[in-house]
Amino acid sequence: MSESFVRFFALSEAAFSKEIADSDLWLPPSKQEVVEEVCEAVQEHAQVLLVGEPGAGKTCVLRAVRHRLPQAGYRLTYCHNATLGRRDFYRQLCQALGLTPAATAAAVFYAVSNHVENLGRDRIHPVFLLDEAHLLHQDTLDHLHILLNYEWDSRALLSLVLVGLSDLQDRLELRKNRSLYSRIERRLSIGPMVVDDTAEYVQLRLRRAGADREIFTADALTALHEAAGSSLREIDRIATAALREAARRKKKLVERDVMARIVGDLTPGDG
Ligand SMILES: Nc1ncnc2c1ncn2[C@@H]1O[C@H](COP(=O)(O)OP(=O)(O)OP(=O)(O)O)[C@@H](O)[C@H]1O
Ligand SMILES: [Mg+2]
Repeated sequence: MSESFVRFFALSEAAFSKEIADSDLWLPPSKQEVVEEVCEAVQEHAQVLLVGEPGAGKTCVLRAVRHRLPQAGYRLTYCHNATLGRRDFYRQLCQALGLTPAATAAAVFYAVSNHVENLGRDRIHPVFLLDEAHLLHQDTLDHLHILLNYEWDSRALLSLVLVGLSDLQDRLELRKNRSLYSRIERRLSIGPMVVDDTAEYVQLRLRRAGADREIFTADALTALHEAAGSSLREIDRIATAALREAARRKKKLVERDVMARIVGDLTPGDG
């Protein structure tokens, strides 16, 4: 059964849930640009780095890329468990690629690179999307540029898209990671949001959930923007708490007082 605020505001679903279809993602020009840059880089068989703060929308950008890239000719593989040593990392990659993981580190590496070469022969460009890449073990990071080496480093048969928090860039800039970093041609970041972005995002999510009118006042949106600090995940959390609180107070409009209550006190529901 749907939550009571969903019924109170006559929505079709919880407006700020993470279960949003790829085709419904919010793509303002700033995000669209990032999506296009990633797609372009992959089409050029290049390597990509994408960094941003927690909840800034990095994984959603990857989903938009998946939606946008032509299906034919590309094989996207998404890996998000970066907290593995080198051998287990490659074993995970094998599994994601539908290969049987071999026992030794050398054999798993061989299986992955062989698979990449076979796809190259079939004119399919594999793209490994490594999410949470700031968590990659150093021994995995040390090895990634070797995975990019085909035919005496003369063929670009694979695109790596490394995605993570800003620390990832700092790590890659270290001298020991230069072999990999120097191969990453596109270095992108998701920047901070302005208040109009927050307002547009909130409106879009509410509209997608069936709202046919404004639910948040302009000053409530300003307070929401300030509290969320450019994190869309924070916006989701705070906006949901505000809708819940307004429904509890039987108010059809989320005004500044309700928002102040939520952002000032992060345990709503007891006031
Ligand atoms: N473009 C978008 N359109 C719609 N909703 C979005 C978009 N980007 C982010 N969101 C919302 O914000 C939430 C967090 O986004 P996402 O998971 O992409 O952030 P992230 O940058 O990958 O965070 P983390 O660093 O914690 O992995 C999503 O679950 C979704 O609800
Ligand atoms: Mg993410």
